[in-house]
Order: sequence, then structure tokens, then C-alpha cells
Amino acid sequence: MPLENFYIIGHFRGGFTLDKTSLTINKHSWDEAATRFFGRNPLPEYGPLAPSEEELNLFGDVSGLRVLDVGCGSGHSLKYMNDHGANELWGLDLSTVQITAAQKVLEKSNVPFHLFESPMEENPGLPRDYFDIVYSIYALGWTTNMKQTLQHIHTYLKKDGVFIFSWEHPLHNRIRRDHDTFTVAKSYHEEGSYKHPAWNEPAYMQQYRISTYINLLIETGFRIEQLIEDVSLTEEDRERHENQWYSYDQAKLIPTTFIMKCTKK
Ligand SMILES: C[S@@+](CC[C@H](N)C(=O)[O-])C[C@H]1O[C@@H](n2cnc3c(N)ncnc32)[C@H](O)[C@@H]1O
Repeated sequence: MPLENFYIIGHFRGGFTLDKTSLTINKHSWDEAATRFFGRNPLPEYGPLAPSEEELNLFGDVSGLRVLDVGCGSGHSLKYMNDHGANELWGLDLSTVQITAAQKVLEKSNVPFHLFESPMEENPGLPRDYFDIVYSIYALGWTTNMKQTLQHIHTYLKKDGVFIFSWEHPLHNRIRRDHDTFTVAKSYHEEGSYKHPAWNEPAYMQQYRISTYINLLIETGFRIEQLIEDVSLTEEDRERHENQWYSYDQAKLIPTTFIMKCTKK
């Protein structure tokens, strides 16, 4: 749907208000940045320095299932679902460039796929009570209205359907590294929108405490099955994440990523 027609009027409990400006800015930034993120950390990865699906097996056997990817990016996680026998592939993403990339990545899939260029805060025409699994790999924290997004996800799922997501751990951006010293640069209690320091183009992410995710999920009607805060610290991780935004040394102290598995009650 065109962003000109898209308004967010929600107030989050933390007390902040957002309007369509953040979404318009983020869409532009993602269109600019998309090629840098092409195929970065998709399933079976959950994110930088996080354990992978091969270790966690949260999805189980997906063969024959209908799956929806929220913030599907370049479509590589949907391709993973296709390679593992999912029956229907659905995805949505804010960025035109990401959706175009995903169309190409999924061109050779052997089952139907449906992609929507849309903010996750809206339902762009997705069926209700339909999906066996909805998942989101490193995208959910971009939503400008978490409550509304979770409510939509809840309606897309069948009863007992599974919702799995990964996102940056809320402690990660509160800690700043200066050589060997790590400082708490921001209060853990502070929630809401912030301008991400690692982005060249302006980009607005949202930060919440872990308890906020848990309470919002419960309020929306999810049962929480698992919360994972483990890190992966293999030699390969050390090489991949030397002096990166998500650094190996920081991951030895605090998680980079958290992963949650829930079911629709
Ligand atoms: C790190 S990428 C996700 C990668 C992808 N999930 C994968 O597995 O390869 C984050 C994605 O979130 C999308 N995004 C950001 N804000 C969004 C929003 N409000 N609604 C939908 N997608 C959004 C971006 O366009 C980007 O493609």
C-alpha cells in the first residue's frame, strides 16, 4: 500500500508517539541499503553470533506447511523454507528493492509464493487463521507499532500456529565499546524510537525491554514456548565478527540476539 495513505496513530505504553515519517525514512534507507544486506544472516541463521536453526530446531519439520515471513528482505529465508518442503511461501517487506530481490531469489521455487510490499504494521491483504508458521528474522524491531504488528500476526495464524522471531538483544545497543572497555551508554529502561548510529542514511529502530516483548505477546494471545539468549562463539564467528557492529568480544559479555518461539492460543 502507498505510504502516503499510511498513518500510525498508536501510542505505545512507554508514552511515545510515531507518525508515518519514520516509515517513509526507513523505506528510503532500506531501498538504499538493500544490496548490502542481500542474503545476510537468513535462516538457518537467526542473526549475528546467535545459535542457528540447525542447533535449535525451533521450526521442526515444515514440509507441507503454509509459512509467512514478516520483513522477508531478499527472500533467502523463504528460499530456506522452500528447500525444506514448505507448501506455500508468503512474505512482506517495506522495501521495494528487497521485494524485487526476493522475487528473483524465489523465481525457481517449486511451490506458490506471494510477496507484498507493505509495512508490517498493516495487513496488505493476508488471509486470517491461515498460516501454520509466521516468522520474522531480524525485522520485528523495525516496526513503529509493535502492538498492532503482533495483533496482525496473531490473526494470520491458525489456532496453535507458531510464531518465531529473532531480533537484536535489547542490551546490545545500550553498551558501547571503547577498545577493551564496555560502558552502559543508555538506560535499559528507556524504550521507544531511536536513530541508529551505524546507518549512513537515517534509520529509526525501536527498542523495548525483554519484559515488554513478553507482556505484549501474552496480552495479544500468544503462549510463550521458548526464549533464547545464547551466543555462538565459534572460530568462524570470531573471524566473521572481528571489529563489526556485532562484535565477538561484546558477545562474550552480553547476547547480540534474542529469539522467541510462541504459539497462538
Ligand atoms: C535485516 S532485514 C531482514 C532479513 C530477512 N528477514 C532475512 O531473513 O533474510 C530487515 C528487513 O525489515 C524490513 N523492514 C523494515 N521496516 C519494516 C516495516 N515497518 N515493515 C515491513 N518490513 C520492514 C526491511 O526492508 C528489511 O528488508
